[in-house]
Amino acid sequence: MKQPLKISPSLLSADFGNLAEEARLAEKGGGHDLHLDIMDGHYCHNFSFGIDVIPAIKKSVKIPVVAHLEIDNPDVFIEDFFHAGSDMIVVQEDTCPHLPITIRNITGLGIKAGIGINPDRGFEKLEANPEILDRIDLLIIMAVYPGFGGQPFSPVTLPKIKTACRLRDQAGANFDIGVDGSVGKHTIPGIVRSGANYLIAGSSIFNGYDIIKNISAIKETAAGSIVI
Ligand code: DX5
Ligand code: ZN
Repeated sequence: MKQPLKISPSLLSADFGNLAEEARLAEKGGGHDLHLDIMDGHYCHNFSFGIDVIPAIKKSVKIPVVAHLEIDNPDVFIEDFFHAGSDMIVVQEDTCPHLPITIRNITGLGIKAGIGINPDRGFEKLEANPEILDRIDLLIIMAVYPGFGGQPFSPVTLPKIKTACRLRDQAGANFDIGVDGSVGKHTIPGIVRSGANYLIAGSSIFNGYDIIKNISAIKETAAGSIVI
């Protein structure tokens, strides 16, 4: 594993009636950052958080807040999510007709940029625009289609992690390689052994009694899976 292990708790599975407290517990438990899925009911069949949730969450924690834009036409909202306080904006590559420009627009604001790739999509846009690889901080291999927590793990994920590692290493780039969707004790060994270091986890952290213990268990499983 090239980059350090990072756990990114996904608040989609948190108790929305108790969001600030659950965010604080995720920070206390050692979350590297907080992952907020922004959904528009169009790109994916669900609604989640609006822009104003970002400053509300930022009042409760010191760790970075990542806005994962699972929306159509993210380009028109990038400045809004920046002003709301996002520390990183992740776009889904299939929503960006001019991906290099989108990424430049995000990083030009002085914040980090990431890209998500759905299970049925490949790396063509990255291969066609290799300059992107130097600009992003995170490449997320989606193990589920955006929309909901608790979906099953797509079998295409592990080979795609390996391809992502190869692309990154050939380019001499340094971004984190993440997995989003169905990250839990059964899937983590394969994910980590395939080369991903950034684990976005919703249900396996928030759908249990103890958020802090759940994060520790994920860290332990992941650390125990690293092949040296
Ligand atoms: C799916 C989201 C994920 C979601 C993952 O649209 O991008 O971040 O929270 O949830 P789990 O970990 O429950 O699969
Ligand atoms: Zn997400």
